[in-house]
Amino acid sequence: MKLPVYLYGHPVLRAVSEPIGPEYPELKELVAQMFDSMYLSEGVGLAAPQIGRNIRLVVIDADPVSDSFPECAGRKMTLINPEIEIFDEPAISRSEGCLSLPGISENVPRVEHITLKWLDEDFQPHCEEIKGFLARIVQHECDHLEGKLYIDHISGIRRQLIRGKLNNIATGRTRVDYPAKYAPAAKRR
Ligand code: NI
Repeated sequence: MKLPVYLYGHPVLRAVSEPIGPEYPELKELVAQMFDSMYLSEGVGLAAPQIGRNIRLVVIDADPVSDSFPECAGRKMTLINPEIEIFDEPAISRSEGCLSLPGISENVPRVEHITLKWLDEDFQPHCEEIKGFLARIVQHECDHLEGKLYIDHISGIRRQLIRGKLNNIATGRTRVDYPAKYAPAAKRR
C-alpha cells in the first residue's frame, strides 16, 4: 500500500516535528515507502509530516529536474534531523509546488545558497554547501518540519488570489491523482 499524502488543512502539516534517533522503529521501510510515494506522485521531495508523521525526516530525489537545474543531477538524499544555515545573499523568486497543495504553484523568494547538516539513513553525519534549485528544494522540505508551507513566504495579495483553491483543498473539493488524505473536517464528495 502506498502512503497517502496529507493535504493542506490537515493539522499534521502545521505542527513542529521531533528529531529521531536510530531506535526509531522500521525507519528504513518508512524511508523506502516515502520514496515510493514521492515517485508515484511525481514530486522531487517529501517530508514526513506529509505522510502524517511529525518527525524530522525528508526524502529528496531532484534528478528529474536536472535538465533545467544541472546541480540536481543524481541528487537522491535521505535527510534525518537536518539543519540549515542560509547565506546572506539576495533571494531569488522561482516557482514552487507541493504535493500537499495540489493544483497550485507560486513564485517563492528564497536564497539559493545554504549549508546543510544532516544524518543519512544509517545515521552517518554529513555537511555540505548546496546551491541553486537543490538548495530551494531542501529549504522547502525543511520548512515542512517546522510546520511551514511555501505559501507562508508569498505576499498577502497572492495568498488572497489563491484562497479559493486553498479552501477547495482543505474542504475536500480538490481531486488528486495520487493517494491522498484530506483534513479531518473535509467533506468528501
Ligand atoms: Ni512541500
